[in-house]
Amino acid sequence: MSLHRLAVIAILAATPLLAAQAPKKEAPPFGGDYQKYWIDVCARCHGVNGNGRDNAGNQLPDAGFDFTDSRKAGRKKDSDWVKVTLEGKDKMPAFKGKMTEDQVKKMIADIIRPFGARH
Ligand code: HEC
Repeated sequence: MSLHRLAVIAILAATPLLAAQAPKKEAPPFGGDYQKYWIDVCARCHGVNGNGRDNAGNQLPDAGFDFTDSRKAGRKKDSDWVKVTLEGKDKMPAFKGKMTEDQVKKMIADIIRPFGARH
């Protein structure tokens, strides 16, 4: 079998695999606006309001945690949330390299904690 033929077969064989594993659009690095970054990047999974729901009120598939549940959120430590955000966990992507630790802390204080306080 010619090398060319082998290469074509290899590409054809790999195509469905690549399509299935293609990550959703890679998140951009944090640009300095916490509210905007939450809406542009985090809300896809966590919801604009932090409750893991879309604007129609339907549960988002990759929500993971309802930040508006003040009882549950109150038992969570900032340090754990910083770790999960920087390093990722299961479906939660790692934001190390996109946000610094200080920026994650400010995101938690300014955006995420207030979700729980409003309820
Ligand atoms: C692709 C979906 C997705 C995106 C985008 C995403 N998250 Fe998450 N996040 C998750 C999931 C799923 C979990 C739950 C992980 C677990 O515990 O298994 C989670 C968990 C968390 C937690 C810990 C909550 C807990 O369980 O106590 C924090 C904090 C968090 N995310 C913050 C963020 C921030 C800030 C952003 C944006 C910079 C973000 N997430 C973007 C899916 C996502």
